[in-house]
Parts: sequence; C-alpha cells; structure tokens
Amino acid sequence: MEKLRLDKFISSQLNVSRNEAHLAIKKGTVTVNGEVIRDRSLIINPNADKITHNGQAITYKKYIYILMNKPSGVLSASNDKNRHTVVDLVPPNLKRQGLFPVGRLDKDTTGLLIITDDGEFAHRVISPKSNIPKCYLAELDGDINDEIIARFSEGIVLADGTKCKPAELCRVSKNVARITITEGKYHQIKRMFGVFDLGVNSLHRESVGHLKLPKELFFGQCVEILSKDVELLC
Ligand code: URA
Repeated sequence: MEKLRLDKFISSQLNVSRNEAHLAIKKGTVTVNGEVIRDRSLIINPNADKITHNGQAITYKKYIYILMNKPSGVLSASNDKNRHTVVDLVPPNLKRQGLFPVGRLDKDTTGLLIITDDGEFAHRVISPKSNIPKCYLAELDGDINDEIIARFSEGIVLADGTKCKPAELCRVSKNVARITITEGKYHQIKRMFGVFDLGVNSLHRESVGHLKLPKELFFGQCVEILSKDVELLC
C-alpha cells in the first residue's frame, strides 16, 4: 500500500509549495474521505482515499508524462539562469516540481520530447539496451548517396572512434533523410553525417518508439501521455 503525508500529496498533485499546501490544509479547504482535515501530517493512501480541495476531487497521479513538440532555440533542461528551457514551456495544468526532459535534443533540434518526473522510466527510455527506435527527419547541406545509406546500416564509426549501432537511413529527397537510431549519443546524428562532411541544416524528431507527434501539436505545445501508452514504450 502506498502511503503519503497529506501535505506532500497536496503539494505534488496541485503543484504548489509545501507552505502553500500547509495553508490550504489549515484553512480547511482539504477533505479526506468526506471529512475536513487540518492535520497536515496525516498519512493517507493516495490510491484509495478520496481527497478534495475546494470541493474538487483530486485524481492521484504518482508521475506525469508529457509529450512536447520542442521548438528551436529552447534548451533541453529543467532550469537555466539565463535561457529558456523546455520545462519553462510546460503549461500550468501539467506543471509539477521535479520535471525534466527524457534525454536531450540540441537547442536547434525540434520535435518530440518527453518530459516527466519519473526517473526510472526516463532511465529505461534513454538506455541503449532498451533498443527504442527514435526517428528523425534531417535536412542536409549536401546529397545523400548509397554509400552513406550502407554505412549507416553497418554502424558508423564517429570521428573520435565511437562506434554507433546500426541505423536506418531512408532518402526522402536528395538532401532530406529519415533516420532511425536506437541510442542517443551526444549530437549523434550531426556527428554521423559529419563523417561524410555533411552538415545538418535542420533536425526534427518525429517519433520515439510508438509515440508520434500529433499533427495538431504546434511547436512549444504539450499533451499528457496516458499511462497505458507509457507502459507500451519499455
Ligand atoms: N542527434 C543530434 O545530432 N542532435 C539531436 O538533437 C538529436 C540527435
């Protein structure tokens, strides 16, 4: 049975500070199983007890999983003193303490990014052992030829000697490619094309596993991922 202090439950589920949670409880705005509770240290079972705040039932979510269409120019990080981060873009209704991006997209890369507060899940998604395919669309500053496609499928050795796992490269047009990789090394796709002296003009992540960017999701927008979809990922 999961157990949680009432103030911790309120602060995590309503995305308020612990002090704000204390105040709400003290003011009598919180009920547990129909009874106003003013004891902030009360231990509850978040999966069984019915908790309300200002008369509204709180549906317990241990973790939250968010899918963002990352815009260019935003940092894949939780917070930064001077620059905008992806977590800054999460709307208030999905915001929680402890959110972070699952892996990193470069500042100028756009597309699908998962944001969560579930560390174990993030670890599994990032791990190359999980073999989760990540699909990108890249526009290059030169043409793609059959040799590049073959070398991607064998596994590229990067300039510093790092060996990449075999990757799929499909030509979309002479200088646009769809690439599927199952790992996430630093600047991996840019470095893979760098081996052939090709620069990446733009890079957009289309999918991670079975999760695809919904067509109607504009840059900077987020949707919550249902837990059944999260479980299917790894
Ligand atoms: N590969 C890159 O080079 N950059 C990204 O942002 C993601 C994959």
